[in-house]
Amino acid sequence: MSDRSRLQIDLNILDENIKKLGVLAPINEILFMVKANAYGHGMLHLVDFCLSNSHIREFGVATCGEARQLREIFPTEHFATYVFSDLALEQNRDFYGQGSMIPVISNFEDLNIFLIDSSYKNVPLCLKFNTGMNRLGFELSHVEEIISMMRVRGRSSIHHLMTHLSSACMPATNKRNVGQVEAFKNIKNAFEAGNISLERTSISNSGAIEQGLGLEETHIRPGLMLYGPSSLIKRYRSRSNWQGRTVSSLMTRILQTFPIKKGTPIGYGASPCPSEGLLAILALGYGDGFSTHFEGAHLFHKGYKGKIVGRVNMDMTHVLFPLEAEKDIRPGDQVEIWGHDKEGILRFAEETGTIPYEIFCQLTPRVPRSYNLKQSMMFKEDDHGKKLAY
Ligand SMILES: Cc1ncc(COP(=O)(O)O)c(C=O)c1O
Repeated sequence: MSDRSRLQIDLNILDENIKKLGVLAPINEILFMVKANAYGHGMLHLVDFCLSNSHIREFGVATCGEARQLREIFPTEHFATYVFSDLALEQNRDFYGQGSMIPVISNFEDLNIFLIDSSYKNVPLCLKFNTGMNRLGFELSHVEEIISMMRVRGRSSIHHLMTHLSSACMPATNKRNVGQVEAFKNIKNAFEAGNISLERTSISNSGAIEQGLGLEETHIRPGLMLYGPSSLIKRYRSRSNWQGRTVSSLMTRILQTFPIKKGTPIGYGASPCPSEGLLAILALGYGDGFSTHFEGAHLFHKGYKGKIVGRVNMDMTHVLFPLEAEKDIRPGDQVEIWGHDKEGILRFAEETGTIPYEIFCQLTPRVPRSYNLKQSMMFKEDDHGKKLAY
């Protein structure tokens, strides 16, 4: 490994996870959430893999910029990209108007633009409702007005009606989950009573899918679970039916090791070393997305348990191993921060008081992503023969 650190992505595991998801949710179409660079895994590589190797043809991103990037790199492939939060409808009307990029509309201002602007005439209508997340979304009380606005514009169907669960990391029987599912039913009934047909519906993110919640809808919207980890909190994880494995493994290199005495000051802030041991300096720091909040967490290497000590710096992290590790742990060793087993990343997230979503997403571009399967995607060339990089 010539790089100091590397995120190794095993696309065979993604393939396995997609197949396992098909067993958990056999009748549902998958809208795969690939926003934030596919949760840090490389959106273009993963979408490319899905288009060539799976039946997934619907993807979810947060911004119009992410959707444009997908369309530019895969101009001729048939797939739909849902843009969830940063729609920029006025600035991107031509782009949306080409079809296959679907804005998820969640307020009247955007709905007005969408229904009135002729560029959107042939763009599928997708509406998101707030049933308890209290973030973006229409309310049940808005249904009547939405129906009249649709009628004026000659629309009698909704391509995709959705809501989002706030507490899918909790048991399916939790009152918030039960309440949101119930509220979504009422919204669907209200549209159907107004003779609006619902072509697609969805409610479930990973935590819900793992527990079989919301599978009566046509679609599911998994993110985290396809990258591997369960999104249920530890206390309730036994309720999860998810057996996925972690697609990525974060590897780094030991730059140097030396024995150290208790109390010796370490790095910025000169934190006193908590005990005698072998100090290993890892080539990973917050410049790679390895946060200062990870201080105190444990790592395992060659059977020894190490602890992150001192302040994580921009390029390096200090890990204290027992002194007897001196005979085995050497500069140049590759250390796994998390691996493909399903527990590693979850344990690390729990220990550091964060969530796998954030750990994945915050890895910076300095950490190269490597893929074990050859991609079908060829870099495209523009009119001047310039490669369109990704
Ligand atoms: C609207 C929506 N649906 C689905 C998901 C996927 O969630 P998860 O990664 O927990 O499966 C997200 C992620 O934030 C989302 O915002």
